[in-house]
Amino acid sequence: MIRVEDQAQGLRVRFEGEERTRRTRGGATWTVAVTSGKGGVGKTQVSANLAVGLAQQGLRVLLLDADLGLASLDLALGARPRADLVEVVRGEATLGDVLVPVARGLDLVPACPGRYEMANLDASSRDRLSDLVRELAESYDVLLIDTGAGIGASTIAFAAEADEVILVATPDPSSLRDAYAMAKVLQVRADVRRLHLVANFVGSSREGLELRDRLQSIVDRFFVLDLELAASIPTDREVVEANRAGHPVILGSPESSGARALQSLSHRIGALFRKEATC
Ligand SMILES: Nc1ncnc2c1ncn2[C@@H]1O[C@H](COP(=O)(O)OP(=O)(O)OP(=O)(O)O)[C@@H](O)[C@H]1O
Ligand SMILES: [Mg+2]
Repeated sequence: MIRVEDQAQGLRVRFEGEERTRRTRGGATWTVAVTSGKGGVGKTQVSANLAVGLAQQGLRVLLLDADLGLASLDLALGARPRADLVEVVRGEATLGDVLVPVARGLDLVPACPGRYEMANLDASSRDRLSDLVRELAESYDVLLIDTGAGIGASTIAFAAEADEVILVATPDPSSLRDAYAMAKVLQVRADVRRLHLVANFVGSSREGLELRDRLQSIVDRFFVLDLELAASIPTDREVVEANRAGHPVILGSPESSGARALQSLSHRIGALFRKEATC
């Protein structure tokens, strides 16, 4: 990836040999991607709760389920998709047909459950979809993207276009190793210089700090990238119960430990948005 030039419309970057625009402040809508190396670490819970938390702060949030072939945000938010994103990719429907209003200030672009075609979109279809989402996102303050796990091309492409990337990891050794792999790919291929680490399934905030320090010390041996600990989220039964009931825990059990940590993450990201917007 080569940094090309700064423009009012965004930062021109080279990704996988192609020039594309990373939209930045002054360009299109501020974009945050939520990603991870290992699967099942809590990206969708973080995305759903963060989206609701940002909307509660008065921001207009467009939430994209970019785990394109395996939808889950609709379940986490209790939303009922009316149309299938695959029809948008085929040019048979518009994003407006697919869009689901979830709460005041929050709309969801849901993905497709069990769609092989969507899970394996070619680069040009993915870019077309991404452009349509960006166009739609112009009437929102924040575009929040819940990606699939791992270092697949689609996940990296969505993260590469974001202004900020949240990396979710757990203290599990395989999660730590995969988080490192994801950080490396994001740095090398997409020139990402800073990641907001969400330490999930931790026993204490101290364990979250230890996770950050361990990951940062591995990263420091090989490349330059700052890991900021954005939140330490405890293992909390209420998160699971809320997910089963189809609502984010910050709405269902706002006093639970998981909800408080997720709410604090949303305040931190909201503050970052306001700082970027006033710079
Ligand atoms: N802090 C937590 N405490 C307890 N359970 C949690 C916590 N975070 C997430 N979970 C549960 O873990 C499971 C996986 O979470 P989630 O679906 O958000 O992970 P994911 O990273 O999006 O997974 P995938 O890689 O499959 O998309 C869900 O059942 C969710 O309710
Ligand atoms: Mg998920």
